[in-house]
Amino acid sequence: MAPHAKISTMNTETIIAIKRPDDWHLHLRDGDLMTGVLADTAKQFARAIIMPNLKPPITSVSQAGAYRDRILKSLPVGSKFQPLMTLYLTEATPPNEILSAKEAGFIHGVKLYPAGATTHSDAGVRDLLRCQNALKALEETGIPLLVHAEVTDPSVDIFDREAVFLEEILRPALDRHPKLKVVVEHITTRQAAEFVAQGEDRLAATLTAHHLLFNRNAIFQGGVRPHMYCLPVLKREEHRLSLLQAATSGSSRYFLGTDSAPHARETKENACGCAGCYTAYSALELYAEAFDAYGYLSRLEGFSSLHGPAFYGLPVNEGFVKLQRVPTVVPEHLIRGGIELVPLCAGERLAWSLLD
Ligand code: DOR
Ligand code: ZN
Repeated sequence: MAPHAKISTMNTETIIAIKRPDDWHLHLRDGDLMTGVLADTAKQFARAIIMPNLKPPITSVSQAGAYRDRILKSLPVGSKFQPLMTLYLTEATPPNEILSAKEAGFIHGVKLYPAGATTHSDAGVRDLLRCQNALKALEETGIPLLVHAEVTDPSVDIFDREAVFLEEILRPALDRHPKLKVVVEHITTRQAAEFVAQGEDRLAATLTAHHLLFNRNAIFQGGVRPHMYCLPVLKREEHRLSLLQAATSGSSRYFLGTDSAPHARETKENACGCAGCYTAYSALELYAEAFDAYGYLSRLEGFSSLHGPAFYGLPVNEGFVKLQRVPTVVPEHLIRGGIELVPLCAGERLAWSLLD
């Protein structure tokens, strides 16, 4: 069992207490929607790595600082939630901006979006060789590069884009930059889990609840299911099992990152629907469901609360959250900042409930 996890029985119900967790990959957006979704995250997590893919993207320390201030002002009264900010890497990111990010102290990662790979990635990187000096500054400062690991070449099958990126883009970049710390975000394949397992200690990965719970059949069950569409797209069952194996292995290279990505209902249920699953509402319950189903609930704490801080060089949080083995039904829809969202597993029953 992980060092702090406590499982006790109370009134015949099973309760698990884990150190307060963090979300190492989160989309909050901005404005009223941000205020709405922030409360869902802040009730469970002490900190979150905030993705910079706004429109326009967060490319400078001053933009990240202003975004951080807006988040802090939107927090529910009394919340101590801490946003850990990131910069959006472009081919024009000056190395000095990365040195300033280190000095500022509130920036904890620089995000690499291959241009065209996903939501608001058009300002991203077409050729990583054009970012050599920025990556050298990351090596110097120790700030990790957070990678959306998919090639964008339309001739590469969408189900192979992650595996191809790892071999063709990321492996050479790791060789060119021997001190670069990298988080492969939201891994979806056996190849990614193995790539991280076989790499050096400077390599880690985040895993989403949806990639642990579902395979690609879920996108087409009885018809097209737009709320199951995210990027990287869900993969075959054999890949989901590899991800579960990695997440529950106890290895500190894997940690929780929801990739919770709110999109208004009408932009998902659309002829050209947006990619992203809204998982923040029941994030911990969803992860508990996956870990429990696989028989490794005792490893949930390491994955959720210990491995991420160790990689990012941050302290483990104070306090605990508790989950109880009592079913909870996910709402059919949520209104956040006046926008209708359909959460992952809407209308379905989950086995665990978060206790206040
Ligand atoms: O499904 C996704 N949604 N994947 C991403 O990489 C981006 C995210 C978003 O911002 O909506
Ligand atoms: Zn994301």
